[in-house]
Amino acid sequence: MTHATDHSTGIIDLHSHLVPGVDDGTRTVAESLTALAGLHAEGVRLVVTTPHLLVPRLESDAALVLELDTHRRAFDRLAEATADQQNLPVLMLGQEIWAPDAASVQRVTGRREVGLPGRFLLVEFGFTLQGDHNEVVREVLDAGRQILIAHPERYHYVPGAEPIEVMRCWQDLGALLQINVGSLSGHYEGSSPGSSRLAWQMIDTGMVDVIATDHHGPRRRGVSPAEGLQELIDRGASAVAQRVMGENPTRIMRDDLLPSGLPGQGRGADRLEQEPGRP
Ligand SMILES: [Fe+2]
Repeated sequence: MTHATDHSTGIIDLHSHLVPGVDDGTRTVAESLTALAGLHAEGVRLVVTTPHLLVPRLESDAALVLELDTHRRAFDRLAEATADQQNLPVLMLGQEIWAPDAASVQRVTGRREVGLPGRFLLVEFGFTLQGDHNEVVREVLDAGRQILIAHPERYHYVPGAEPIEVMRCWQDLGALLQINVGSLSGHYEGSSPGSSRLAWQMIDTGMVDVIATDHHGPRRRGVSPAEGLQELIDRGASAVAQRVMGENPTRIMRDDLLPSGLPGQGRGADRLEQEPGRP
């Protein structure tokens, strides 16, 4: 499962769909190995791959457990296939949890086998938002877990809502925000109009905590961390790049980036130290 790689340096990718055959990501072990080799070649040294856990579609807890089991077994097969290969990132298993409401997320917060390594849950609310979803953030934090919100730059916000303000509210409650690397290059403009402008606005105002690939295998483009890194450097945001592609993911995995949700503490202090994306 692990390789003799020092993952204290290099890019860490906390969001991808590279467990073969369990969701809309890679379909075979071979596709996953190709994707992982590509990421390693671009400087990625650790991948927490995060198959979709579509909680509202898993009606019973038995169905939920079965789904997690399916992920784990497919992941183990992939990990086994990586064992004799060089030049691959260290590979770990997480989930991207679809939880539009508190009741959904409450079904997984108490499960230690669910989440990124440590206390964080990677959560998506669904592409078309229904309200502000603040209750999901509160539910996760009240349960003693932490929340990293997946690709908020891609959501369709309710009419009249200002996306940046909605996101700030999530952050003020104690959530961290993850954007997709492809958003920087406008990759999602077809499905998420305005996502590129929003992603850069978030970069420029210091709102991005993590950039990840959301790699879905060979059928989707816009997943190059090296290209994203270069775009950030070109924009004068190399310090931001280092933070959101390396330092913050490392700290998340060590439970060393725990926003308290309390005014004036935790993330607030962190944020004051952040440099803006551009001078
Ligand atoms: Fe995803």
